Amino acid sequence: MAQQVRARIIGTGSFTPPKRMTNADFEKIVDTSDEWIITRTGIRERRIADNGTQSSDMAVEATRRALEMAECSDEEIEAIIVGTVTPDYRLPSTACVLQEKMGFPNAVAFDTVAACTGFINSLSIGRSFIESGVYKKVLVIGVEKLSSITNYKDRNTCVLFGDAAGAAILGPSENGRGVVSTFMKSDGKLREWLWMPTGGAVNPYTPDFTFDGSDKIYMNGSEVFKVAVRQMCDAALRVIKGAGLQPSDVSVVVPHQANIRIIEALAKRLGVGMDKVVLNIDKYGNTSAASVPLALDEANREGRLKPNDNVLMVAFGGGLIWGAALVRW
Ligand code: UT7
Repeated sequence: MAQQVRARIIGTGSFTPPKRMTNADFEKIVDTSDEWIITRTGIRERRIADNGTQSSDMAVEATRRALEMAECSDEEIEAIIVGTVTPDYRLPSTACVLQEKMGFPNAVAFDTVAACTGFINSLSIGRSFIESGVYKKVLVIGVEKLSSITNYKDRNTCVLFGDAAGAAILGPSENGRGVVSTFMKSDGKLREWLWMPTGGAVNPYTPDFTFDGSDKIYMNGSEVFKVAVRQMCDAALRVIKGAGLQPSDVSVVVPHQANIRIIEALAKRLGVGMDKVVLNIDKYGNTSAASVPLALDEANREGRLKPNDNVLMVAFGGGLIWGAALVRW
C-alpha cells in the first residue's frame, strides 16, 4: 500500500539585519539594566533593520537561501504563505510584495496574521495543501520588522523585540518523513493582553493623532507568560501524541524564543532536557513569526537535525494564539 503523502521541509533559510542593539544600548534610553534583561528574559542583543529594509526585503533574503538549499526554482513554487504582523503595507499582502520582488509566476501569495505563531500557522496551511494534492511546492515564511511597532519608551516591551526572517520550502514525501502532526488554537477573549489599539478601522489615525504609544505593541507580560507556558505545553503534548510518540521520543525542540524562562518551564514540564532545545534568544530576542523558522534554519545549518529526528516546533503569541508541529526530519 502506498505511504500517505506528507509535506517535508526540503530547504530552510533565514536572514537577520546586521545592526545589533545591545542591552547596554537600552540602558541609555529606558530605566533598565543589562542584568535585569538577561535574568528576566535571556536576551543579550537583538537585530534592528534600517529604515530602508522592510519585511519583504528580509523575506527575500531568507527565501533565496531556502530555495538554494532545496535546489528549487521560483517557477516550481505554487503557494507563498507569509506569517507577519509587520507587513510592508496594510494592502496588499507582504507575500504579494515578495512575489513582485522575486518572480514566482505560478504561485498564489497571501499573508496570515497569527503573531508569534505565524510560521507554525503558515506551515500547517502549507502542509494541508500538499497532503491534499492541491500543490506540490509551497514556500512558508515568518518575518517581522518588530522595530516598526515597538514603543521605545516602554521598558516593559522594548527590550524584548528584534527583526528577522525565516523561510522553509515544503515538498511532497512518501517515505514517512515530513510534517506528521500539527495543532493550532486561539482565545480571542485575551486579545487585549497583547495588541496594538490604534491604526485599524476601530481607531484609525486621525489628523490630530499624537503619539501616545497606542499605535505600538502593548503587552500584559506577566499574564501572557502564564498562559504561554500552559498552552505551549498543551500544544506540544497534543502533536507528540498525534504522532503516536512520547515526549522522550522528541529529538530536538525548536520553541518560540520569547523568554528563556518560558522555554525552560516548557522543557521541564515536557521532561525534555535543555540539551535538546534550540536556543538563540540571547542573539535575536523575540522576533515573533520569524523566531521559529530562524532557530530551525540555524539548527539545520549547524547539522543538529538528522534524518528521521522527531523535531518539535511550538509557539505562542498575540491573539492570543498558539500552536505546534511535529516533523519527522
Ligand atoms: O511573543 C509573544 C508572547 N510573549 C511572551 O510570551 C512574553 C511573556 N512575558 C514575559 O516574557 C515576561 O512577563 C516579561 C519579560 C515581559 C516581564 O517579566 P516579568 O518577570 O513577568 O516582570 P513583570 O512584568 O512582572 O515586572 C516585574 C517588574 C516591574 O516592576 P515593579 O512593578 O515590580 O516595580 C516592572 O516594571 O520589573 C519591571 N520591569 C523592568 N525593570 C527593568 C519591566 N520591564 C523592565 C525592564 N527593566 N526592561
